[in-house]
Amino acid sequence: MDEFDGYIGVFDSGVGGISVLKEAVAELPHENFLFFGDSAHAPYGEKSVEWVRERSEQIVDHLIASGVKAVVIACNTATSAAAEVLRAKYPDVPIIGVEPALKPAAISPEGDRILVMATQVTLGLEKFHKLSEEWGGDKVHTVACDGLAARIEQGNLGAPDLIELLESLIGPYCGRVTSVVLGCTHYPFIARQIQRVLGDDVMLFDGGEGTARHLALVLEEAELLSDYPGEGLVEFRSSKNSPEEIELYRWFFDRSLRA
Ligand code: SIN
Repeated sequence: MDEFDGYIGVFDSGVGGISVLKEAVAELPHENFLFFGDSAHAPYGEKSVEWVRERSEQIVDHLIASGVKAVVIACNTATSAAAEVLRAKYPDVPIIGVEPALKPAAISPEGDRILVMATQVTLGLEKFHKLSEEWGGDKVHTVACDGLAARIEQGNLGAPDLIELLESLIGPYCGRVTSVVLGCTHYPFIARQIQRVLGDDVMLFDGGEGTARHLALVLEEAELLSDYPGEGLVEFRSSKNSPEEIELYRWFFDRSLRA
């Protein structure tokens, strides 16, 4: 019998990290994944940096106590607030974060006028300022999408209230931008709705695929890749700790991101 090769822990404030999990499973189909969604405390993006840092530490403690061999912080807000602290605390465990896909947007033919959608915390921290200075400069507009991650957490993604919220947040940029960076892992689930507000000519960029490729590379370098020939497991846990929430996670996991 093949030996169990351990889990890769993936966490987010809630359902958003499932967009990254999907890319990671596609990139690394033989790995086992343990997803933790902190839906009881979502969203993170309007909380204090200190709170997000402390909570991220508690979750990574839990994942590591569950025996994961690597951690993916599948949340832009938590990466910006806590990645450095987590790496210092667990130097022997690969910890991979996410970042808004500003570089791919900036070097693309659609990179003239870029709108970055993200949370207040992500946009307010040094990590994003540096990224924006390096790759965006004055081509970049930002919009703090208050309330949007919380609304996505509820599912029912085509409902009029979600479209109205989206229109109020990004409608003013219609005709003014050529690309959009989805700087929160919740937003790839509403890619079609964003396109409906801004038009099909606007190109969307999200960091999920790049994160999955980076994860594969890090695991390979650390000689942590599974050599199991079959399909790995995907296990879901939630701080809401209810079967309904796990069902919702599976619903998101089964959704196509780019259709
Ligand atoms: C949030 O919890 O507010 C959003 C998560 C993210 O930034 O990816």
